[in-house]
Amino acid sequence: MKQVSIALLGCGTVGKGVIDVLLMNGPIIEEQLNTKITVKRVLVRDINKYEQMNLPSAILFTNNFQDIIDDEEISLVVEVMGSADFAKECIEECFKRGKSVVSANKDLIADYGIPLLKLSKEKQVDFQFEASVAGGIPIVRAMYASLNGNKIDEIIGIMNGTTNYILTQMTCRGITYEEALREAQVKGYAEADPTNDVSGYDAARKIAILGTLGFHSEVTFRDVQVEGIEKITAEDIRNALEMGYVIKLLAIARQDKEGISLNVHPGFIRKTHPLANVADAYNGICVRGNCVGDVMFYGAGAGSLPTASAVVSDIMNVVLHEHIGVTGQRDFVSHEAKLKPQASI
Ligand code: NDP
Ligand code: HSE
Repeated sequence: MKQVSIALLGCGTVGKGVIDVLLMNGPIIEEQLNTKITVKRVLVRDINKYEQMNLPSAILFTNNFQDIIDDEEISLVVEVMGSADFAKECIEECFKRGKSVVSANKDLIADYGIPLLKLSKEKQVDFQFEASVAGGIPIVRAMYASLNGNKIDEIIGIMNGTTNYILTQMTCRGITYEEALREAQVKGYAEADPTNDVSGYDAARKIAILGTLGFHSEVTFRDVQVEGIEKITAEDIRNALEMGYVIKLLAIARQDKEGISLNVHPGFIRKTHPLANVADAYNGICVRGNCVGDVMFYGAGAGSLPTASAVVSDIMNVVLHEHIGVTGQRDFVSHEAKLKPQASI
């Protein structure tokens, strides 16, 4: 059996989930790859915090990225820290040293995804980011590998688990916005700073990533018109229900002859629509392609094990690519984005 040593940058909700999945599903992963994947090193800020956690004793914790970059046994680095700039520096360094990278970080992918993909291609290493949109739902790979024979006309969905959890709990249990947000934080759905969740910017980054992949042209979250859920009141929710609707934070990307439009805003969804039944931290994404018609993806959009499921699948893909001597890289962008005028800010 072959051995692959990997490193994690971060060991929070997602990083700990990756360790758990690799332990829990080790035998089925090894069977498929004929390879044992071992987490050798983990980068965190506060090592003491992790000594008290029940983690495998063989893992070497460090707060110095250099320990990871200098370890030649590590060929794959998994970035699950969050934020964009430090993560970008680390990933560039990994590529330059011939290490492949898996990332769950949508802030990073939405800001630097395309240049990082170019660099990974130049350095002939792998770069995978399935978990950056909609946690455990395999939507990223679907966009570039399963629906790529289509011209994509529309992507519309619920792509933020925290806000969907808040709206669901306000609707079903009648608790306040603040109480529901606190619960979402405790359950590990919210970002370390939940501002981007509730303001709509987390969903904006995700729709920008899907728009880029679906429309083969780079769009960024700055091209998205964004409104969050901060102003939604219990009364708005009651009024919507009385009229036969629920309120959801929707992320929408459309492309027609005139160009691309990107929006994130709370919207009324008729109770009978499939997206109306996407509850709690679940996400639902409908994609319309000119051949396939409408397809819908549904599942856990946040949380430790669901997100780790996507990260581990990326890790397995990188290992498979290493075995067959190729990287998974391709050119995701083939032309400049033509944005509708009103979509630019
Ligand atoms: P957490 O806040 O739970 O964990 C972050 C981890 O990264 C901690 O171990 C932290 O260490 C470490 N870390 C952060 N900054 C640094 C740094 N500068 N140097 C070293 N270590 C650092 O985050 P999550 O696990 O929730 O999220 C991780 C990533 O995954 C984010 O990009 C997030 O957007 C994405 N994601 C999260 C999902 C979720 O459901 N939570 C779902 C999909 C994607 P320490 O504790 O010592 O500070
Ligand atoms: N904070 C994000 C959410 C995590 O609530 O959807 C998943 O990207």
